[in-house]
Amino acid sequence: MTIQIAVTGAAGFIGSSLALHLAQMGHGVHACDWSDRSGRTPLDTPADSTLARLRAERLGILAQTPGVHLSQLDLAAPGAFSAWVSERQPDVVIHLAAQAGVRHSMQAPLDFVGPNLIGFAHVLDACHRQGVQRLLYASSSSVYGMRDTAPFLEDDRTDSPESFYAATKQANEAMAKAYHAQYGLRSLGMRFFTVYGPRGRPDMAPFLFAQAIRRQETLTLFAEGELLRDFTYVDDTVAAIAALARPDARWEGSTVVNLGHHRPVSVNSFVKCLADQLGLAPIIAYAPMQKADVKLTCASETRLLSMIGSWPDTPLDEGLGRFVDWLQDWDPLNQPG
Ligand SMILES: NC(=O)c1ccc[n+]([C@@H]2O[C@H](COP(=O)([O-])OP(=O)(O)OC[C@H]3O[C@@H](n4cnc5c(N)ncnc54)[C@H](O)[C@@H]3O)[C@@H](O)[C@H]2O)c1
Repeated sequence: MTIQIAVTGAAGFIGSSLALHLAQMGHGVHACDWSDRSGRTPLDTPADSTLARLRAERLGILAQTPGVHLSQLDLAAPGAFSAWVSERQPDVVIHLAAQAGVRHSMQAPLDFVGPNLIGFAHVLDACHRQGVQRLLYASSSSVYGMRDTAPFLEDDRTDSPESFYAATKQANEAMAKAYHAQYGLRSLGMRFFTVYGPRGRPDMAPFLFAQAIRRQETLTLFAEGELLRDFTYVDDTVAAIAALARPDARWEGSTVVNLGHHRPVSVNSFVKCLADQLGLAPIIAYAPMQKADVKLTCASETRLLSMIGSWPDTPLDEGLGRFVDWLQDWDPLNQPG
C-alpha cells in the first residue's frame, strides 16, 4: 500500500536517503528543509562550504526523483509547518530535521533551541491539529548518557544528559509523551546509533577520519581509541524507518525504539577497517577523553525486532567500502582546486 508521507530534514544525511527510498517504494513524499537549493541554511558560516555542497547535492538528487515534492521552510517559524502540513494532509510525518552534533552543542547550545525545541513543538502541535495518524521522529542514542553496561534498553533511565544536544532529544521524547497523554497523538521516537554511509555528515567521525587518512594527516583519537560505538549503515537505518512507518508496524501510543545493531566496535577497529578500505595507513595521535563524549553505545534491538520482524544488517567492511567509493568519487583529492 502506498501512502502520503511528510519528511522533515530532507537536505540532511538520513532525511535525503529516506525520502529517496520512500519515493522508490512508490509513496508520495512531501519533503522539507530550511536549506535552500544551494545548500545554505540560516546557521551556516562560510567555513561550512563542504556541508552546503553536500546538502545541495542531496536536494539535487531529490529534485530529480519522481514522487518527491520539495519545500523550503523553517520549522521554528510560527505557523510555517502547520500551514505546510494542512496543505498536504500526509498520513504519516517523519520528523528528522534538527540541529545535530554533540560537539556543536558544546560550542553553541543556543543553536539547538530553535530547531530542536521550538521546531519540535511546532511539529507536534501541527500533527495533533491536522489529525496526522502517526508521527515518527529522530531521537538519539545520546539520551542514554554515560554508561558502562550494555546493551541499552529503551526503558533504562535517560535523565542524565552529557550534552545539551542530548537534553533536547530527551525533551523531545517527553514532549511527545505529553501530546499523547493530552491529545492521543501516536508517536515513535527513533533512537539512532552513529549512522554512517555515502553523503554522510562532514562533522561526524567517519567523514573526518576518512579525509584525514586520505590526506595523510594526523588523526586524533580520544580515549586511546577505545570508545565503543554501535555504528549503523545508513541504508539499514532507512529500511528500519520505512518499516516502522508502515500501518502494520507493531507500535502503539507514544513510545521509543533503538535503531542500532547491538554490535559496538572500538573506534580503533573502525579506523583500521576504514584505512583498509582506503588502502592507506592512518597516522594516529591519541588524546584524553573529551567532555560530553560517552564511553559506549550499544543498542538492544529486541524492541525494534518485535515491531518490524527483521531489518538489514550491513557488515562494517561492506558499508565502509561503499562510503569510501562514494567519497573518492565526490572528493577526488588529485584534482586541482
Ligand atoms: N546521523 C546520526 O548518526 C544521528 C544519530 C542520532 C540522532 N540523529 C538525529 O537524526 C536526525 C537526522 O540526522 P542527520 O545526521 O541526517 O542530520 P543532518 O544535520 O544531516 O540533517 C538535519 C537537517 O535538518 C535541517 N534543519 C535544521 N534546522 C531546521 C529548521 N529549523 N527547519 C527546517 N530544517 C531544519 C538541516 O538543514 C539538515 O538538513 C537528526 O534529528 C539527528 O539529531 C542522527
